[in-house]
Amino acid sequence: MSVSPQSHVMLAALEQAVRRGVQSVLPALSDAEYVPAFEHPADTSHGEWSTNIALQLFGQHKSELVDIRSPRQFAETLVVGMGEIPSVTVSVAGPGFINFSYAPAVFLQTLDTIQQGTVEALLPAYGTGQTAVVEYSSPNIAKPFTIGHLRSTIIGDAVANLLEATGWTVKRDNHLGDWGTQFGKQICAIKKWGDEEEIAQSERPVKKLVELYVKFHAEAEENPELVDEGRAWFKKLEDGDLEARRLWQKCIDWSWKEFNQIYEELGVRFTENDGRGYGESYFEDKMDVVVEELETKNLLTDSEGARLVFFPDDQYPPLMVIKKDGTTLYATRDLATDKFRLQKYGADVRIINEVGAEQSLYFQQIFAIELMLGWVEPDQRVHVKHGMFRFKDGKMSTRKGNVIWLEDVLQEARERAQQLGDDPEHAQTIASAVGIGALKWNDLKRSAHLDVVFDWDEMLSMEGNSGPYMQYTVVRGKSVLQKWQESGFTATATTEADITPEGLEILRLLSRYGEAVERAAQEYAPHLLANALFEIAQSFNTFYNKHQIVADGVPQVRIDLVNATVAVLSHGLGLLGIETVDRM
Ligand code: ARG
Repeated sequence: MSVSPQSHVMLAALEQAVRRGVQSVLPALSDAEYVPAFEHPADTSHGEWSTNIALQLFGQHKSELVDIRSPRQFAETLVVGMGEIPSVTVSVAGPGFINFSYAPAVFLQTLDTIQQGTVEALLPAYGTGQTAVVEYSSPNIAKPFTIGHLRSTIIGDAVANLLEATGWTVKRDNHLGDWGTQFGKQICAIKKWGDEEEIAQSERPVKKLVELYVKFHAEAEENPELVDEGRAWFKKLEDGDLEARRLWQKCIDWSWKEFNQIYEELGVRFTENDGRGYGESYFEDKMDVVVEELETKNLLTDSEGARLVFFPDDQYPPLMVIKKDGTTLYATRDLATDKFRLQKYGADVRIINEVGAEQSLYFQQIFAIELMLGWVEPDQRVHVKHGMFRFKDGKMSTRKGNVIWLEDVLQEARERAQQLGDDPEHAQTIASAVGIGALKWNDLKRSAHLDVVFDWDEMLSMEGNSGPYMQYTVVRGKSVLQKWQESGFTATATTEADITPEGLEILRLLSRYGEAVERAAQEYAPHLLANALFEIAQSFNTFYNKHQIVADGVPQVRIDLVNATVAVLSHGLGLLGIETVDRM
């Protein structure tokens, strides 16, 4: 059981008050007939919350409101009807908005909550009792782990963390591309030119496999029979030929060797199928029933021997599920995957795919088919899409050929992070946390569907909206706390007069933390949390520059504010998968 955080309790009290007010003027109107909407006014001097309920209800009930001539007058009447709300000041603004301001004591309760226990107490557990599959990363075996897969890994992991933090049971899955006709070519290439021992020993086995695959295509230009040989190997693989299976399994193991290093470095994990996720090959024997079901439900159309799903009113182009030669496709495996998930995790499981925006149409088609099959309700299927990476003036792009190897990106992030900070002794140990943090923040600070310009300077800037800036703010807070502890000074009890405007601003933002996490989870949008954390960091730095903190007789609230900021920022960065450090 979860207890509602205080911010929710306060909001519920405001809603109750509004209903009292409405009841006093329109007694015939039942509670069920309207829902007051609350928003944070853009200008904080207008208070914590604002509602337009008076404008809305005045429009609908004008004729019953004989003595009330304007929405503003109606708002004023509502306010009288509300009576007192403890610790809240109510006012009417503009044409009839009702604004609610909190006394500092309300915000101070947030500090108490953090001081007494955990930041978790600020989070609403709205997902309790619900299960979600969050599928992310999903690289392809024997192919480079791309920047796109990196984005999927970072964003998907953050979405999974957000859902977990708000009460969901989360299944972390990796839909590895480990099946398909390309494995016929890959096996063929290994057989012809590969040295298994050498690949196995290599630090970067995938690189070797990609070289072989590229060679296959180059040779096939001259020698088209190779294509048939590749096809034959795929047929063997499908038929369970031992040698084909052995080499295919090797490709998987070699690739995992490399992928595992990446996941470890990123601090990302999966929970399903012993941590490897259910890759495409897992569904090899689970596609027939899906095709049959499509058949039975009359959803398949024949087109020159291939089997396609057409959509009502041609809303989308048709999607092929069986090829002319009878083989299955990526789409067939996705349908089988979701059927499996619905069976395994429950018919109402939410299924979230973090995949590049270039697959948007494809996922719309898949979702539409699953709706047509009667498998899901519309909001059960979610495509969290990320945009592309663009490279600023070719830096880091083609230097090493056409492929950008993720290992090189991670390495460069570490090296560059090492140059930051003024603590050479610790540079080495923090480099990974700071370098990876910089990459992650760069991905999470803006809406995922946007394209990202890959700019190392922006990513590693200590002043701007960057990972290092966020981590450094935490380091700064921690070092203040340490100095305080070592000082032997004592603080004085806090009075309301001790709360300065800068302090109040942090308090306000900290008390909205739970809301930021909830919205980010509900909208599958980690950037909403990142934005809230950035605001907290900025207001903390303003506060820090303005006020002396480590001094004898300082009001306790100053120390508590530092404490709470460190706790909330660390917690929030943790949800985004970003480590904090003690020094930089
Ligand atoms: N392996 C695919 C690729 O690299 C991504 C898989 C996405 N997930 C899915 N269920 N189709 O493009």
